[in-house]
Amino acid sequence: MKNVKFNKKVYVLLAFAAAWSFFAFKKREVYLNFEVPKHWPKPVVHPPHNRVNIDAFSLGKKLFNDPILSKDNSISCASCHLNFSAFTHGDHAVSHGIYGLKGTRNSPALFNLAWSKNLMWDGRVETLESQPINPITNPVEMASKMEDVIEKLNHSAIYRKLFYNVYTDSQITQKMLLNALFQFDVMLVSTNSKYDSIQRNEQGVQFTNEELRGYEIYKKNCAACHPEPLFTNQGFENNGLPFDTALKDYGRAAITGKSSDSFYFKVPSLRNVAVSAPYMHDGRFSKLKDVIEHYNTGTIHSNKVSAKLNKNMQLTPQDKKDLVAFLNTLTDKAFLYDVKFRAEVQ
Ligand code: HEC
Ligand code: HEC
Repeated sequence: MKNVKFNKKVYVLLAFAAAWSFFAFKKREVYLNFEVPKHWPKPVVHPPHNRVNIDAFSLGKKLFNDPILSKDNSISCASCHLNFSAFTHGDHAVSHGIYGLKGTRNSPALFNLAWSKNLMWDGRVETLESQPINPITNPVEMASKMEDVIEKLNHSAIYRKLFYNVYTDSQITQKMLLNALFQFDVMLVSTNSKYDSIQRNEQGVQFTNEELRGYEIYKKNCAACHPEPLFTNQGFENNGLPFDTALKDYGRAAITGKSSDSFYFKVPSLRNVAVSAPYMHDGRFSKLKDVIEHYNTGTIHSNKVSAKLNKNMQLTPQDKKDLVAFLNTLTDKAFLYDVKFRAEVQ
């Protein structure tokens, strides 16, 4: 009897000791949650268990901001994707990469990428995780070779340590690099605009009359291609832009080889559109009012133009103002100024 009691005590003590050493020596894991708002569609990809380890996220962010990924260590992802402009490149119609070379397309805003069924203006990239290979190896963007980037990273004691912390492997591989960038990209979720507060019935937040009228104009003329809540139908459409004879960009057709896809481009989201100028695949418009004027009076008449486009919008000057007022409610300041996305905050 006595013996049994003694044994029990020992077991309890041992259990306490084991628990103590587990908590004392195991590094505390901190996670960021990936949240899907109510009534939103399922994301196409999401991090395992809908959370990202903070060390992995920080590593992804460091890489996103580090010119080490480019051939001459001059251009980072953030050179073309800046956080205050919803990760697009304000004032640059087409992207500017290494050696001052110009690309042919506008740098898109980056957010809600987890819901993106297609990446790039022509949808040529299928997964978010593999996407960085494109800019890293693109001769007018970062002009590197993947093996050179991996070698440079392996030469850095800091990176070896940071990668080890996340992947418990001291040999950095391409897979690890892509995974770390994915962990950052996937967390760029923008769901906190005034529009969203109103959808969530938050107290004290209401549309003004102007915004409300703009919302109706949007539903009538824009929602067919830019539907709520993502403000994109995730598809490819031709929205009647006159062809740019200098850039000669045929859009989706260059990927599928089908002439019916000529001048079809990925429908971008209208979220944060007030801060993500210039607009369209070639950045041809610098103001929202120019975009609206295009839809109102500037669309070309051709059988290639999407049937979803209302070719006779007849917007009055007041309608156009109201529409801009509504589009402004899609700006998510909490996202734009979120310190966790800033390069300098580790
Ligand atoms: C020189 C400018 C430039 C650099 C550097 C750059 N990007 Fe981009 N990014 C672009 C442009 C332009 C596109 C659109 C390309 C196209 O459609 O052909 C794009 C597209 C994307 C997309 C697809 C977005 C969508 O909605 O389809 C993602 C994601 C992205 N970039 C992430 C990155 C990451 C990560 C890096 C760094 C490894 C990076 N970019 C470096 C200019 C750049
Ligand atoms: C037929 C489908 C369709 C309709 C309807 C439509 N759009 Fe678009 N929208 C697109 C496509 C496709 C693009 C990208 C086109 C390109 O770059 O070549 C685009 C691009 C935009 C952009 C540029 C966003 C960016 O990040 O560059 C804005 C702003 C915009 N649309 C606003 C509107 C508004 C406002 C309406 C209603 C008045 C509207 N759209 C109606 C398909 C449509």
